[in-house]
Amino acid sequence: MMATASAPAKVILFGEHFVVHGNPAILAAIDKRIMATAGTIEAEKIAIRSDIGAAGEYSGRVFKALRGGRRAKALIDPIHYAVKRALGSRDLDGGIEIDLCSEIPYGIGLGSSAASCVATVAAVGSLLGRHDRQWICKRAVESERMIHKNSSGADCYVSTFGGLMQYGVKEGYRKIESGKSLSIVIGNTGIRHDTGELVVGVAKFRARKRKLFADLLAYADEICSDAASALESGELERLGLLMSENQRLLQQIGVSSKKVDDLVKACVAAGALGAKITGAGGGGSVIALAASEKESAGIAESIRKAGCDPIQTQIDFKGLIV
Ligand code: PMV
Repeated sequence: MMATASAPAKVILFGEHFVVHGNPAILAAIDKRIMATAGTIEAEKIAIRSDIGAAGEYSGRVFKALRGGRRAKALIDPIHYAVKRALGSRDLDGGIEIDLCSEIPYGIGLGSSAASCVATVAAVGSLLGRHDRQWICKRAVESERMIHKNSSGADCYVSTFGGLMQYGVKEGYRKIESGKSLSIVIGNTGIRHDTGELVVGVAKFRARKRKLFADLLAYADEICSDAASALESGELERLGLLMSENQRLLQQIGVSSKKVDDLVKACVAAGALGAKITGAGGGGSVIALAASEKESAGIAESIRKAGCDPIQTQIDFKGLIV
């Protein structure tokens, strides 16, 4: 038996980090995917291969790296957990083989780990006849928490359900209909980050500066609700200003960097309506909002000139495909 599932990457338009502390965030799935193929095998093991250069197999709890050396286990463990969570208490006659194939650069804030967990749970779930997206998303969130234990779950939700959404840990998600189509250009600094470390850094900032953090949280909440209404009414200029305002908050909580700040400035100088970090920061990626598709080429050029890689992107409305 064999099943294939693919799940999209994402950008966070508003509210990263603050979402971990109970605020809402606004996210969009984008047209870069990771594909997971799951197949049953005779041998009693779980074998995982990823085209980012890691492969290994688990016989019970014993792990053997087949490719990727010492970093293989860290990359593959969450996928192994996703397989186990999808299988639940089902006893297989034999084992499972997983192949991951990705168009999403990893470690730069585009949600590649979440998408790989969603696609893996969905592919294994499909072998068992489970296609319910809520069921898949719940298990993917639990698997992503193997990577960073305080994950808000936002990335898995947008990767599973696709489109543009507002998400809160308690409230869950609500789809947003954008009044105008969005032209977003991503700038990849090429600096990989560790989301877990950055999230812990923000928690430490909060512990040190309780009053300031509470004020920033309240302001981020305001920005997010203004942004949701600007999105719905198609007020792109207001949306851009709110993105730049959100970036100032991210600078204050210490997740920006010189390279990111320079890239944000370059995008705005090239005509972007606003620009900010997307995802955890500390390098990673920046998103810039163009007034229209026509302006996005100039912004992409400015990203290139700043020594980074531009990625032109469209919103993905499909989400998980099995
Ligand atoms: O950089 P990414 O793709 O791992 O996104 C992290 C988003 C955070 O808000 C910083 C963390 C979270 O769990 O929501």
